[in-house]
Amino acid sequence: MKSLPIVFCGLFATLALSWAGILWQGQKQLGGLQPMSELYAIDPISNAARIESPQKDEPRHPEEPVGLAQQGKAQYISLGCVYCHTQQVRSQGRGADFERGWGNRQSVPRDYIRQERVLLGSSRTGPDLADFGQRIDSVNQLHAHLYNPQSEAPGSTMPPYAFLYQKRKIALNGEKSAGAIEFRDGFGPAEGYEIVPTRRAVALAAYLQSLKLDYSLPEARLPEKP
Ligand code: HEC
Repeated sequence: MKSLPIVFCGLFATLALSWAGILWQGQKQLGGLQPMSELYAIDPISNAARIESPQKDEPRHPEEPVGLAQQGKAQYISLGCVYCHTQQVRSQGRGADFERGWGNRQSVPRDYIRQERVLLGSSRTGPDLADFGQRIDSVNQLHAHLYNPQSEAPGSTMPPYAFLYQKRKIALNGEKSAGAIEFRDGFGPAEGYEIVPTRRAVALAAYLQSLKLDYSLPEARLPEKP
């Protein structure tokens, strides 16, 4: 019975050490990641970055997120889009992300270092959105989809976000407002009315447009263009 405190201390030390080890490993691997130019290459032996063809003013990725897109990210979070959409393209052979056209390269930890909140998501009920900004056809179509997913993707299980839009009477001269959404036949509002995005919808669309994996990193290069 005398050795009970020692056993307890030993147990505590084992748990504390392994916990600290997990934190330290993570910090060592990811904590020091910096934005990088695609001209850098990772040395396969030392794992350190070396410069292939040094040029000082080469842009570094990922870039700082800015402005309206950042406001849109807050909407994306508050509306719960993350429950159905991931933002993490898996490498070839791990899932069919490439085949589905969700990205041209896999996502890597460095892609997220500028983000205060990382929205990896866990459920792929809808398509991955990490590279959505590159496959978007038009902002109008994006709004029509958010207003009523059925209008762009018949049979979709995505909920409509019509409350992000305003239904308004068209002006007496019959001219629609600048931002009014054009719908496919049969999906528009009643005659004489128009649907206009609110500030929230405009910001959300800006955020979705900003999601792009269009740059190479030393550890994840885009495929060479033929
Ligand atoms: C209940 C699950 C669910 C939620 C919540 C949800 N989505 Fe979706 N989303 C889907 C599904 C399923 C699809 C595929 C069918 C379609 O295009 O409508 C989709 C498709 C999309 C697409 C088209 C992607 C592409 O590659 O063409 C975008 C953009 C999108 N969602 C954005 C959002 C945003 C923004 C929110 C939050 C405001 C959201 N989704 C919330 C399920 C969901």
